Amino acid sequence: MTDALTTLKSRLAAVGSVAVLCGGKSAEREISLRSGAEVHAAMMALGINAVRVDPADSDIDVLKSFDACFIALHGRGGEDGVIQGVLEHLGVPYTGSGVMASAIGMSKIATKLLWAGAGLPTPDFYLAGVGERDIGFPLMVKPAHEGSSIGMRKVDTVEQLADAVAEAARFDHEVLVERWIQGAEFTVAILGDEALPPIRLETPNSFYDYEAKYQADSTRYICPCGLGDDKEAELKQLAKKAFQVIGCSGWGRVDVMQDQQGNFYLLEVNTVPGMTDHSLVPMAARASGRSFEQLVGEILLDGLEQRR
Ligand SMILES: Nc1ncnc2c1ncn2[C@@H]1O[C@H](COP(=O)(O)OP(=O)(O)OP(=O)(O)O)[C@@H](O)[C@H]1O
Ligand SMILES: [Mg+2]
Repeated sequence: MTDALTTLKSRLAAVGSVAVLCGGKSAEREISLRSGAEVHAAMMALGINAVRVDPADSDIDVLKSFDACFIALHGRGGEDGVIQGVLEHLGVPYTGSGVMASAIGMSKIATKLLWAGAGLPTPDFYLAGVGERDIGFPLMVKPAHEGSSIGMRKVDTVEQLADAVAEAARFDHEVLVERWIQGAEFTVAILGDEALPPIRLETPNSFYDYEAKYQADSTRYICPCGLGDDKEAELKQLAKKAFQVIGCSGWGRVDVMQDQQGNFYLLEVNTVPGMTDHSLVPMAARASGRSFEQLVGEILLDGLEQRR
């Protein structure tokens, strides 16, 4: 066993019982069940007394009987401040971002408004039906609160726009219309105060869509990401600032595009990103020398330190 893991295990010895919250009612329920199963297995390997709890079929009061919660719920109801508020009310410490940062992070529009206000780069955008203006083409149309690329479409001409907005509106009452950035895509995992090694995502699809995320064999995850040292440092710094401006804490993931001139643009922040063994945060953690168990242990300890 590595020294780091031994130290971590001794710090975790006093944690007590932990509920791994997974499942839930969002569109990302299935991914969350997978994240939860793997987080749970890692906790057992770390010697933690952990139990999986699905808020979709449990009385929420059961959470009072635990010493801490690891939130592995993706999407609405779990990643958006709702369960965080419940846990604040119950007085149970939990992992990751607090109520407000979770709620802001769930809204791509609120997130982009804060980034723009803080002078951080994000593609030009408007809220469909409210702020229409000419921001050029191509565009990306997306539901404002969804994940996993659900309901998203690239739009090349004005004729395609109304259909794409209608499609996104099937998933959400707010639809974001954003300038398309042609170029490389990166994601940066944040753990505590640290930006982990960025991962470059490459897909033959026109963007990193649902199929590329969960089904295709053709998606490539490149880490080290191949940017020069200066550019990689700039990307990590930008991702850390983006995380802080939203008020996020503990852990998360910031998605970024790079245009042909080398400029970075922030897309979104995920406050409870995927935690399966194939997910991006565990991949970045491995590149930083951390095992999956170590990553889970560090996220849990951070939550306890923030909130006990
Ligand atoms: N403005 C844009 N220009 C080009 N590609 C984009 C743009 N916005 C999004 N994309 C593509 O669509 C993908 C999904 O977008 P985004 O990260 O905003 O949504 P998401 O569904 O919430 O993702 P996640 O599953 O990470 O939560 C991105 O990874 C990227 O490939
Ligand atoms: Mg994303």
